[in-house]
Amino acid sequence: MSHPSNAFVLMDTCKMNNAALKTEIQTEAAKSTALKLVVVGHVDHGKSTLIGRLMHDTGVLPDGKLEQLQANCQRRGMPFEWSFVLDALQAERDQGITIDTTRIWFKTPERDVVIIDAPGHKEFLKNMISGAAGADAAILVIDAKDGMQEQSRRHGYLLHLLGIRQMMVAVNKMDAVGYSEARFNEVKKDCLDYLGSIGVKPAHIIPIAAREGEGMLAPSAEMSWFQGPNLLDAIRACESHKPAESLPLRFPVQDVYKFDDRRIIAGRIESGSLKVGDTILVSPRNQLVKVKSIEAWGKTAPSQAFAGESVGITLDEQLFIERGNIISHVTQAPVLASRFHARIFWLGNESLQTGKRYTIKLATAEFWGEVEMIHQVLDTETLGHTGAKTVSKNSVAEISMIIRGHAALDDAADIPAMGRFVILDGYDMVGGGIVSLEGIQDIRPRIREIASSNITHVDAAVAYNERCQRNGHLGGVLWFTGLSGAGKSTIAKALSKHLFEKGYQVYVLDGDNLRSGLNSDLGFSPEDRSENIRRVGEVASLFADSGVIVISALISPTHADRLMASNACPDKFHTVYVKADVGTCEQRDVKGLYKKARAGVIQNFTGISAPYEEPEDPEVTLDTVNESLETCVEKLSAYVEKQLVAPLRHQ
Ligand code: ADX
Repeated sequence: MSHPSNAFVLMDTCKMNNAALKTEIQTEAAKSTALKLVVVGHVDHGKSTLIGRLMHDTGVLPDGKLEQLQANCQRRGMPFEWSFVLDALQAERDQGITIDTTRIWFKTPERDVVIIDAPGHKEFLKNMISGAAGADAAILVIDAKDGMQEQSRRHGYLLHLLGIRQMMVAVNKMDAVGYSEARFNEVKKDCLDYLGSIGVKPAHIIPIAAREGEGMLAPSAEMSWFQGPNLLDAIRACESHKPAESLPLRFPVQDVYKFDDRRIIAGRIESGSLKVGDTILVSPRNQLVKVKSIEAWGKTAPSQAFAGESVGITLDEQLFIERGNIISHVTQAPVLASRFHARIFWLGNESLQTGKRYTIKLATAEFWGEVEMIHQVLDTETLGHTGAKTVSKNSVAEISMIIRGHAALDDAADIPAMGRFVILDGYDMVGGGIVSLEGIQDIRPRIREIASSNITHVDAAVAYNERCQRNGHLGGVLWFTGLSGAGKSTIAKALSKHLFEKGYQVYVLDGDNLRSGLNSDLGFSPEDRSENIRRVGEVASLFADSGVIVISALISPTHADRLMASNACPDKFHTVYVKADVGTCEQRDVKGLYKKARAGVIQNFTGISAPYEEPEDPEVTLDTVNESLETCVEKLSAYVEKQLVAPLRHQ
C-alpha cells in the first residue's frame, strides 16, 4: 500500500501545500478507521499462512480464489498451503493485474485490518520512517519449535525502532510441538526476555496453529490451558490511530501576511482544531494570545477550522510571529527542547557525520543541527546491527540530535505529522526521520511566559539591514561561557579592543559589572543565575539587533540557561567556550574567590560547590591553559570575519 517513489516527497513536511501530498493525506484520512497492522517474523515461521488464514476465515478472499488455488495444487499433485493465498495476491500485484495495493486485508466486526506490505526491508523501512506508511499495531510470528531466532530478534528490534506501541506475539505451529504448554512457556520466556531488553512490551503472547486454525478466531480446544485471547480478539482490542482531527492542535505557521493593518497567520492545521476566541500558545516563544478571526478565501469566515485545512487566522494582539512557529492550545502543548532522539533513514552519498552541521526541517521550521550521538546502525538488508560509527547510504540508525534554538516537538507515535523531520546537507536532502521524545526534558516550564497582554510590537524605523550596511558587519552575540578565572573577561577586553580598532561596533557585557547594576538584585542560587542569564541574553539580543557585536562574559553554567539566552536571538548567537579546568582556575584565583569558596565563605561557587556543564556544541573553543591570549583573540577575530563580516561582503 505504499508508493515508494513518493516516500521522500512525503517526508518534506515543508512542502505541505503540495497538491500530491494533500491527496495522499486525504486518502490516508479516509482509511483512518482501518487498523494498520504489520506482520513480521522469520521467513519459515508461518507469517503468510497466518495472514492467508485470517483473510479466509474472516471472509474477505475474492470469490472462488481459494477453490482455484486448491484445484491448482491438486492438479500439480502438491498439498495446499495457506501461504499460497498471499503469494497469489502478491503475484497479481507484482504483475500489475490489480492496481489496488491494499488487497491484503481482513475484517473484524468493528473495522477492516489492513496489512502493511513489506516488499523488502529497505523500502519498508523507508516508507515507515518517511511516514508514507504508518502502523498501528504489529504481530511478531515465532515458530513454536524453532523458538526465538536471530531474525525474530531483529524483527522485534525493528518494531521498537519504528516505535509501534501495540504489539502481539503469535507463537505459531503449536501443532508441531503437540500443543505443549511447557514448550509455549519456554518460547514465551525467551521472547519476553529479549523484548524486555529492548524496551518492547507485548500486549499478548498467544499460542496458535495458523494452518489448523487453532487459536485464531476462537479459543482452541487443543490448548484449553491457555487463558488469554485468541489472535483475532487480540487484534480487535488494538486501537486504530486516531484521526488527525481528534489529536491536539498543531498549526505550524507557514507565513505571516500583512493586509492593511491586519496580520494574517497562514498555515495548514496538521492536527486538532481551533475556534475563534480560543487562547493559543505560540512556540517556541511561549506566547499566549487569542484567535480573533479565521479568514477564508472567497467564502464567509468560519468560526472553527480543522486538521487538513489551510487557513489564515488573525490574533487579538500584534505579536511577533514568524514562519516555523507552532501554534497549539495551552494544554497538550508540544515539548520544547533543543535535543531529541530520532530514528533516521539515511539517503546521503556521503555518510552521516557526528558534529557536522546539517539543516533540520521540522514542520515549517528550519534549524541548524548536528548529530550528537549515533546509538545503533542497522543494515537494512539483514536488519543486523552493523556496529558502525557512521551511517552510510540506505541504512537506518538511532541517533540523538541537538539543534540550535528550541523546537516545538512531538513524538511521532503521538502526532505522526509533527514527529517527522528532514535532514539537509546544503540543499540536498540526505535523510529523514521520526522523533522520539523518550527521556527528553521539556524546557517549557523553565521559560518565563512573555506577558502578552497589552503589548504591541513596534516596527523599527531603521531596519537591521541598514544598520549592518553602515557598520560593515552583522550584529551578533559572542556568548563567552566558562569557569570563573578561565579568562572570559580578559579575552573579552582584548577582543573588543582589537575589533574596535578594525572599525567595528563592539560592546562587552561582563557578568561581574552587570551584577552591580542591572542584576544587582540577584545572587547565585540556580534561579537567580537563570534570571541573570535571561536578562543578559535579552540585552545582548537588543545590542545585536542594533548591529553591534556583543561580547558577553558570564559563567552561564548550564545548558538550559545558555539555551534560554540564545533563544532571545537564535540566529545571531555564537557560543564561545573559554575552557580551563577547575584546578588551573583555582591556581590562578585572581579574585581570591576559590580560596573563599573552599573555606565555605562563599556558597554555590561554580566548579567547587555548584556545577558547571561544559557546552557540547560551542562554535569556538578557546583553551586558555594551552593557548596564549593573542592566539585566542586571533581565533575569535577570524571567526568574526567569517561569520559576521564576510556575509555582508557577499551580498
Ligand atoms: S552566572 O553563573 O550567573 O553566569 P556571572 O558570570 O554573572 O555568573 O558572575 C560570576 C562572577 O561572580 C564570578 O566571576 C565571581 O567573580 C563572582 N561570584 C561571586 N559569587 C559567586 C559564586 N557563588 N559562583 C560563581 N561566581 C561568583
